[in-house]
Amino acid sequence: MDFNKTVLVTGGSGFIGSHLVCSLVASYPDWRIINLDILDYCCSPRSLEGVQNRANYSFIRGDVCNPQLVNHIFLTENVDVVFHLAAKTHVESSFECPSIFQRVNIDGTRVLLEAAHQARHQPVRFIYVSTDEVYGPGLDKAFDENSPLSPTNPYAVTKAAAEYLVRSYWDKYQFPIIITRSNNIYGPRQFTEKVIPKFLTLLQNNRKCTIQGTLPLSRHFLFIDDAIQAFLLVLEKGTVGEVYNMGTSFEISILQLARELIKMVKNVTESESDDWIEFVSSRPQVDHCYPICSEKLQQLGWRAQVSWAEGIRQTVKWYQDNPDFWLDIHKDQRIRKEPDSCKS
Ligand SMILES: NC(=O)c1ccc[n+]([C@@H]2O[C@H](COP(=O)([O-])OP(=O)(O)OC[C@H]3O[C@@H](n4cnc5c(N)ncnc54)[C@H](O)[C@@H]3O)[C@@H](O)[C@H]2O)c1
Repeated sequence: MDFNKTVLVTGGSGFIGSHLVCSLVASYPDWRIINLDILDYCCSPRSLEGVQNRANYSFIRGDVCNPQLVNHIFLTENVDVVFHLAAKTHVESSFECPSIFQRVNIDGTRVLLEAAHQARHQPVRFIYVSTDEVYGPGLDKAFDENSPLSPTNPYAVTKAAAEYLVRSYWDKYQFPIIITRSNNIYGPRQFTEKVIPKFLTLLQNNRKCTIQGTLPLSRHFLFIDDAIQAFLLVLEKGTVGEVYNMGTSFEISILQLARELIKMVKNVTESESDDWIEFVSSRPQVDHCYPICSEKLQQLGWRAQVSWAEGIRQTVKWYQDNPDFWLDIHKDQRIRKEPDSCKS
């Protein structure tokens, strides 16, 4: 079958990537969607079982840092669009093992950019999925796309460095890049190391929600369906060379988040909910919050459609309906694998 467009998604087996791949495969049967993913510990094959037999989907297991493989993909496939999501993403682990974050997030981006730029058939869009964490801690004013970058943890530093690389290909070659910076994204199928699925998994196992440190941390949360709509809109209408914040005005403290989830899962009153909370020591640097302004994306026509109440209801229900989804890999040794492999 002939396809109108070929889209390469890196990290397409991860949380956001798998939702993006499923959406692209279903919405654009005349586009070919290629997923390049190394299948790290945070992936489940079940995330993509809905698309694995579809004619317009193909999977390549491999490392985005491998120039032979990545060059071969651009040599043999006429890639029109790249969504680059492959990354090491767990902030805690980035303190324990910054070199792996540097390799995958920076070197991987460099390898992919160079291969895409050198390709005989050059992509018309290279969308780099970055994070609000590149701005560093928020103060009184929301960050817009021109705010200076001031990342404070190794994960965010590598994402910012990769952004500069991506940007340099626009500045030097007018290579058609777009950068997105989004708030925390949440929803079904997210691996259990991130805060919402971590709390839900602890509670399902009758364990307390662990809150790090005593500082009043808060986060903005964007539901996965709204994030996917934003990525598709940026592909369709985004201007090359531009950065788009992708955020929501909904902000919640981590303590209040725990209380809400406890009430939903354990069916207890507000006062009883604190029995399910435990305070533990904090990592070295934790940013208070990351407020961002998404007016530029809204000017393209994007609005978050899913309220927090609805998004978290769907998310909690999914984890309750799928208690064994992460069972195979939700073992402590899989999570601890990072620092061990870091030493080798
Ligand atoms: N989840 C969020 O809240 C959020 C917010 C803003 C930006 N982002 C960015 O979005 C992207 C996806 O995040 P996510 O939450 O889906 O993360 P995730 O950890 O669920 O997925 C990352 C994916 O990258 C793959 N990967 C890792 N190393 C690789 C390598 N060397 N080669 C090929 N694939 C590799 C993993 O196997 C996994 O499928 C990341 O770039 C992240 O920085 C995430």
